Amino acid sequence: MRPVQFYCVLISVLFSPSALLAGEWHVGASLQCGQCHAEHGTAGGQPIPGGPYSTLLHKASINELCLSCHDGSDPTAPDVLAPVTMYGQAPSNESAAGHLLTIGVLNPGGHALGISAITPLNASGRTLTLTCASCHDYHGNSNYRNLRYDPNGVGDSINIVAGVDIYWLNAPANPPTAAGSVAAYNRSNIGYKSSWAKWCGTCHDQVATNSVAVSPAHFNGHPVEVSFLSSGSLSHADVAHWIAGTGEGFVGNSQVAGEGILRLPYLQPTANDFAGTQQVQSSNVLSCISCHKSHGSNFGKSLRWPYIEGGVNYISGCQQCHNK
Ligand code: HEC
Ligand code: HEC
Ligand code: HEC
Ligand code: HEC
Ligand code: HEC
Ligand code: HEC
Repeated sequence: MRPVQFYCVLISVLFSPSALLAGEWHVGASLQCGQCHAEHGTAGGQPIPGGPYSTLLHKASINELCLSCHDGSDPTAPDVLAPVTMYGQAPSNESAAGHLLTIGVLNPGGHALGISAITPLNASGRTLTLTCASCHDYHGNSNYRNLRYDPNGVGDSINIVAGVDIYWLNAPANPPTAAGSVAAYNRSNIGYKSSWAKWCGTCHDQVATNSVAVSPAHFNGHPVEVSFLSSGSLSHADVAHWIAGTGEGFVGNSQVAGEGILRLPYLQPTANDFAGTQQVQSSNVLSCISCHKSHGSNFGKSLRWPYIEGGVNYISGCQQCHNK
């Protein structure tokens, strides 16, 4: 690239909206009050059925409000409610967070919305009724996906920032478009560097660090945020198998017919850009999101493979890293 072109690209990167804002939508100039609040108890001049509601929201609850766009009915808004079809053309056929179930329904495959529940693996046994706002700041903040700084309400200030802890190839479009949202929110567009055990681990504090081994034990305390080489030559992980990406656990494996899943997500602590996060190597680190989806999945405990249900893929995730 000639120097002039280089500086043009650099300038457009530095001054693009995504470089100035941190959360990409519902933040700063893209926080459009009228998307969620009715100024005079009406929407577009029409009375709101059953309204006006608390803080003049368009809907009776936060979950209903968010899902009024994020349920697949608005093609520009990333769909987070099962069944999700919008990522059919994307390589992974799913979003980074996976999907939730309807409000008030118990979710054996992940986080349930609008049901009072004891937080599992939380030392104080906190009871919580999850809404989108338990995890996302509805007025936007400087975190990736507007994730809350203090989701457990204990005075944390957790930063998980795009361009620092997470990288992507395609930024969300502004203004949003249907194709732009598929490109931005599908799973293979996101590369991870750091911060997940800290963020998930504020609510699930018993598994936030590896030193804890109290009851109820987490999967006999599978380590998190450790690299494939943490135990050096005594490693329990099969580094060569993980790097090769073929054979048991992986799609297209020729040893067990029909077995295999997409490579699990991992953190790459030395990455400085999206390409850096895609480097499959021994310094890759596993974290909560390696095994679990953030919203929910088709499998028990929000896992990325049917470990609890059984079937041909029951240990595919384990095999990718251990190949036993
Ligand atoms: C993405 C949806 C969304 C957008 C956009 C939005 N709000 Fe809100 N707002 C909410 C929710 C949700 C609540 C909390 C309702 C509750 O707690 O019951 C809220 C609460 C409020 C409150 C009550 C006090 C508080 O902070 O909780 C004010 C005032 C407010 N919003 C103003 C605004 C203004 C001004 C804008 C535009 C700059 C805006 N909101 C844009 C969702 C939104
Ligand atoms: C009027 C429709 C609408 C409503 C209501 C709405 N959203 Fe959104 N939301 C969108 C659209 C459209 C996008 C995609 C923006 C883009 O790709 O540029 C989006 C993006 C997002 C993102 C990704 C932001 C990022 O930084 O990448 C989150 C998180 C989100 N919404 C959460 C919420 C929550 C929580 C609520 C309820 C408090 C809510 N939304 C209500 C339309 C809506
Ligand atoms: C605001 C607190 C909070 C945060 C943050 C949080 N969780 Fe949860 N989690 C809960 C609560 C409450 C439940 C129990 C209710 C339910 O299953 O929805 C739960 C349940 C779960 C379950 C069990 C689901 C099942 O099917 O039984 C898993 C797995 C899980 N969380 C993983 C995660 C991961 C991974 C993250 C980070 C991406 C995370 N959690 C972030 C509060 C939280
Ligand atoms: C337990 C915490 C939690 C709850 C509850 C939650 N989210 Fe999320 N959400 C996340 C996390 C973490 C991510 C980022 C996952 C990633 O990129 O790997 C995310 C990602 C998203 C995205 C980006 C698209 C995607 O699927 O990756 C949108 C949009 C979104 N959430 C909206 C919502 C809405 C709307 C609700 C309520 C209906 C909600 N979230 C409830 C934690 C949560
Ligand atoms: C994303 C990669 C990854 C996945 C998936 C994974 N592991 Fe591991 N596992 C590791 C790493 C890395 C270590 C720690 C390295 C070491 O001990 O040398 C480890 C350690 C272990 C250990 C030794 C724990 C100890 O106390 O020393 C056991 C047992 C284990 N894993 C079993 C499993 C099982 C069973 C599954 C599937 C449910 C699984 N692992 C899934 C990467 C993974
Ligand atoms: C190596 C894979 C792996 C990693 C990494 C991992 N988990 Fe899990 N997790 C599992 C499996 C398998 C289960 C279901 C079996 C069980 O509960 O022992 C589970 C269960 C859970 C549950 C539900 C417990 C219950 O009683 O319902 C929560 C909550 C949870 N994990 C949170 C986390 C968080 C937070 C992290 C990161 C700090 C994390 N997990 C890292 C594999 C993993």
